Amino acid sequence: MPHFDVFAEAFSAATTVPAHLEPRTITVAGTPGSFVWTPAAGTLLDAALAAGIGLPSGCRVGQCESCIVRVLSGECAHLVAFEGEADRCLTCQAVPVTDLVLAP
Ligand code: FES
Repeated sequence: MPHFDVFAEAFSAATTVPAHLEPRTITVAGTPGSFVWTPAAGTLLDAALAAGIGLPSGCRVGQCESCIVRVLSGECAHLVAFEGEADRCLTCQAVPVTDLVLAP
């Protein structure tokens, strides 16, 4: 196989979460219960998966921004530049700054 037919792409996101952030309660609409996010839990996506709540994501398979969800209430902060709509959140790159209700 010719070398130019073989290529690799690496997908990653900043995951350095500021340690001074306060714990927040995260609710995902349509799922039972909620979970408490802490800085040690990482991004919203990592924390949700650790809590047993499946959220959409696809960075690891080349489908960036597939983790986008709507913020029904509360506010998140992105760890990287984000130019999307104010009520959208890329969960693999964001942390909560208030309690949140998300709609996947
Ligand atoms: S899944 Fe790639 S930006 Fe979140």
